[in-house]
Amino acid sequence: MPEPLRVAIVGTGGISRYIHIPAYKRMEARGMVKVVALCDTVPEALAAAASQFGVERTFTDYRDAVGRSDIDVVSVATPNAAHEPVSIAALNAGKHVLCEKPLALDHAGALRMLEAARKSGKRTAVHFRYRFIPSALYLKELVETGELGDIYQAFLHYFQAQVHDPHTPARWRQSTADAGGMLGDIGSHILDLAMWILGPIARVHATSKTFTKERSTEGGGRVPVEVDDATSMLVEFASGTMGVLCASGLCQGRGNHQRAEIYGTKGSAIYEIERMDSGGDALQVCFGAAQARTVGLARAPILARHQRTADAPFTEFIEAINADRDAPVTFADAVRVQEVIDAAKLSAATGNWVSLPVPVPALAVA
Ligand SMILES: NC(=O)c1ccc[n+]([C@@H]2O[C@H](COP(=O)([O-])OP(=O)(O)OC[C@H]3O[C@@H](n4cnc5c(N)ncnc54)[C@H](O)[C@@H]3O)[C@@H](O)[C@H]2O)c1
Repeated sequence: MPEPLRVAIVGTGGISRYIHIPAYKRMEARGMVKVVALCDTVPEALAAAASQFGVERTFTDYRDAVGRSDIDVVSVATPNAAHEPVSIAALNAGKHVLCEKPLALDHAGALRMLEAARKSGKRTAVHFRYRFIPSALYLKELVETGELGDIYQAFLHYFQAQVHDPHTPARWRQSTADAGGMLGDIGSHILDLAMWILGPIARVHATSKTFTKERSTEGGGRVPVEVDDATSMLVEFASGTMGVLCASGLCQGRGNHQRAEIYGTKGSAIYEIERMDSGGDALQVCFGAAQARTVGLARAPILARHQRTADAPFTEFIEAINADRDAPVTFADAVRVQEVIDAAKLSAATGNWVSLPVPVPALAVA
């Protein structure tokens, strides 16, 4: 087995303590990595995470962490606005980088990150973790092998309830400067799934709405809500497939609900998850007129070749570094998601269809 890669994790909030650090610690136990350092701007959060997971070195400034010679890999789990500066500093210091989604605040920022990755020659990954759900892998296989035929239509949605209650205080997710609303937050996941399965999106028509226009802050004040509570998109894929996509934080009763319905000339398939953790997924299929008449859609079994653990986005990234090949989800994949997000925002602002690629300011992308 190769020497364990040495990891620093920047950001020790929700996703870091729930997924990143536990995943790397399980990989540490298997000799794949060593968790060398944690970094967070809030000393109390940092100390709590360091003590919970037994990590000795801690930093409150990412610049002190990512340049260290005893670190090979940086995992970025900060709010969205810090993804670009932290990832670029780490890449410039010669580290491999796994970054949270959405990759950047906008397409131009994502392109700068891709450029830094290309210049560094290091490996990148993005935590679009729903690509590793067994039913999603099966759905992609059914489309790619042609078993569903040519795809007429696709309906994908991602529903949560995180902004349903108008009394929930604003956090960084409600600020344009820090995030980008539900479109960037969970819309990025559903756009990534859509394009991973069905290929590039050629044009988009979007509508976004903010129902709660002002929220309290944890400090006792009130702030305007600058981002969408929900966004609906009509899309046309380059293949000609028609798509309807929706990302909403308004769906009471929905903790973490995703559904993709795909209808082709030879069959139909419906993928669904209801839970944040792995294991709650399902795939239903219908092939041919005989099944449609007698059964409708039938539950498909999970196949051994699609089984993954919740750690797969991290283990497969480390395996890719060791094998000197691309990880399953790279910065380049996330750049195209960011491009559609920008196009959807432009469409929502103007009321027009927006075709891709969206012109971007001239950038030296190698
Ligand atoms: N892939 C997924 O399924 C998934 C799920 C949830 C969140 N996320 C993403 O993870 C990221 C973090 O989300 P969260 O819910 O954990 O947020 P959070 O607010 O719970 O945690 C963020 C942490 O980062 C720290 N931080 C802020 N700026 C920093 C900086 N410059 N350097 C170091 N630390 C800094 C904060 O103090 C906080 O502890 C976001 O990009 C979010 O979109 C992804």
